[in-house]
Amino acid sequence: MRIALGVGGGIAAYKAAELARLLIQRGHQVQVIMTSGAQEFITPLTFATLTGRKTITGLFSNVSPEATLASAVEHIAVAQENDILLVAPATANIMSHFAHGLADDFLSTLYLAFTGPVVLAPAMNVNMWAHPATQANFETLTKRGHVLVAPPEGFLACGMTGPGRLAEPADIADAVERELNPVSDYADETVLITAGPTEEPVDPVRFLSNRSSGKMGYALAQEALNRGARVILISGPVALTAPRGVDLIQVRTAQEMHDAVFASLDGVTMVIKCAAVSDFQAASVPAEKMKKTTANFSMELEPTVDILAELGRAKGDWVLVGFAAETGNLEQEAKRKLAEKNCDMIVGNLVGTSTTGFGSDENEVVLVTKSGTTEVPRATKREVAERILTEALTLRHAS
Ligand code: PMT
Repeated sequence: MRIALGVGGGIAAYKAAELARLLIQRGHQVQVIMTSGAQEFITPLTFATLTGRKTITGLFSNVSPEATLASAVEHIAVAQENDILLVAPATANIMSHFAHGLADDFLSTLYLAFTGPVVLAPAMNVNMWAHPATQANFETLTKRGHVLVAPPEGFLACGMTGPGRLAEPADIADAVERELNPVSDYADETVLITAGPTEEPVDPVRFLSNRSSGKMGYALAQEALNRGARVILISGPVALTAPRGVDLIQVRTAQEMHDAVFASLDGVTMVIKCAAVSDFQAASVPAEKMKKTTANFSMELEPTVDILAELGRAKGDWVLVGFAAETGNLEQEAKRKLAEKNCDMIVGNLVGTSTTGFGSDENEVVLVTKSGTTEVPRATKREVAERILTEALTLRHAS
């Protein structure tokens, strides 16, 4: 396929080179258009070398007295020649231009002339991303039907931490390919996904929780959505932006998650329990903040409600997928949970000392079903989500 790749002016522009290389490796033809800002960060020659094509650097860069009609109206030719317009990194400025139809450089002019699918991968400072103006532009562009590959959370070049990083090149390339070849094998499914940690209060200001970032659950939600599912996402407190189009229910405690899950089961065809639910809660929660003391003290903890086990007991005709977060004996523990919690599949992952699992952008899992175990090697959480959903759909068709 032919991809017009717009590169915006931000430090993430260097990652666009990796993205261009990946798209070419996957068999696509890539025409790069750089904004003037992008040229401050990386040279047109880098992209020309990687793509084997001239990099477009400006609206009038190709216009001379001898210009042919095609080169004089190059933005129209590029709009007609390409199957998809991808912008990575999409800066706040580019998003604003696109949202408001301003056309004062090659990329924004191309955008207005282009009638095919548009994929934008934003990258910017966390406060710029969170600003109501940027979020309003984000909403306008999403409503227009464009795909936005949400910026994941992480350490940013500006020294801050939060959402704003450019998504991984492989995830952006996947999003482009999904737009070009949409798969809708989940069109008949309603998938309920739980994600993130729970927080169990200890007193009015303290809580028990864990390191779950929600990335795995949100990747599942995005992937199910892309494949045509209706998605109900029940999420503990996380710092992620929920994929546009999911029915989001935000909860805090295990009990709240339990109640939200059981209130949402009507019409559901698949339940995926990815949340890292606290196993314990304080037996009693004082109304006042506990005072600091120099003496040791003990706190009585009691088990939280086991949502997955209750789902297994109540099992309807939906496919039930649980997770197992283990620090050893992965397959054995996953098999035990499969039987004990009456699940159709357990996704086992190593946590603790592992660099995958909690908080990471990658995971490495085993998919344990009654008919055997499949290993999914280390990959982005998006790719792992894709494998989980494919396996879960096979179980659904077999049921
Ligand atoms: O969120 P990330 O940073 O991306 O990290 C992803 C992850 C490591 C959290 C995820 O891949 C994962 O392993 N999720 C399950 C974590 C967990 O709670 O595992 P567990 O082995 O303790 O629980 C087994 C299953 O029972 C899970 O499906 C869990 O949702 C469920 N459970 C557990 C306790 C409880 N009280 N109620 C439950 O429903």
